Amino acid sequence: MSYQLLKGKKGIIFGALDEKSIAWKTAIRCHEEGAQILLTNAPVAMRMGEINKLAEAINAPVVPCDVSSNEDVANLITKSLEHFGGGVDFILHSVGMSINVRKGLSYTENNYEFTHKGLDISAISLHRVLQEAMKQDAVNEWGSVLALSYIAAQRVFPDYNDMSDGKSMLESIARNFGYYYGVKKHVRVNTISQSPTRTTAGSGVKGFDGFVNYAEKMSPLGNASAEDCANYCVMMFSDMTRMVTMQNLFHDGGFSFTGVTHAVIEQMEK
Ligand SMILES: NC(=O)c1ccc[n+]([C@@H]2O[C@H](COP(=O)([O-])OP(=O)(O)OC[C@H]3O[C@@H](n4cnc5c(N)ncnc54)[C@H](O)[C@@H]3O)[C@@H](O)[C@H]2O)c1
Repeated sequence: MSYQLLKGKKGIIFGALDEKSIAWKTAIRCHEEGAQILLTNAPVAMRMGEINKLAEAINAPVVPCDVSSNEDVANLITKSLEHFGGGVDFILHSVGMSINVRKGLSYTENNYEFTHKGLDISAISLHRVLQEAMKQDAVNEWGSVLALSYIAAQRVFPDYNDMSDGKSMLESIARNFGYYYGVKKHVRVNTISQSPTRTTAGSGVKGFDGFVNYAEKMSPLGNASAEDCANYCVMMFSDMTRMVTMQNLFHDGGFSFTGVTHAVIEQMEK
């Protein structure tokens, strides 16, 4: 169903890797709601070729950008200004990666080069994108910028590893940059803290199925799907949420405020 909530709006979407990606579903929903999209992902992810299917389906150009490269981000913002003939109304940062997780190094045995790289890609990149967008004046008045987070930013989830630190930093950058961009141009910056979701990035975490099942039992509404998350992003990009900024917004079926559920108690009594 389309409400044309984003009619006439333009946006950049990072991180659509395949059909399971939250960014992929969000791009489709934004398009359905009337937005024009520019897609971007790391050059290495693009070689898989999947993103071209999405680009065709929603008639969007694709600009490669490794978010850890200043030049790539500057080039992306310039290309976006050229393509749209002006600024964008929204940006989705849907990027995350831990090399420590990928290499199977536990939190207590992290390799700091990997940690630096992971924090750069997963958190500092939001600052890099916002800084470059501000420099080139590439986001319109009352624009909306979103990044995707996880509750491991606030609570311990063993094996989420250094991604936890990355998410804490990501949320902090959204809060702090949100202040400056709000004052300067009424641009709002928020993070959405999403339920565990079966995607390529999600499934990389050890014991991920356990995470998903536990969260499902611990959430009064059950886990929020990637489609639900896409709908929430649409709302946050729309004019219906103009005064929401610098927030970490839980989109998790109630998980974050639930102490225990009957389903978990029953399980524990077995
Ligand atoms: N899946 C979950 O359980 C879950 C839960 C909460 C939050 N999130 C967050 O949602 C976001 C999207 O993840 P997803 O679950 O859709 O998985 P995904 O694997 O589909 O998306 C991650 C994306 O990050 C991109 N990326 C990695 N390194 C990059 C780089 N150097 N430059 C540019 N892009 C790069 C990948 O190419 C990929 O498209 C991430 O921030 C993730 O941490 C996911």
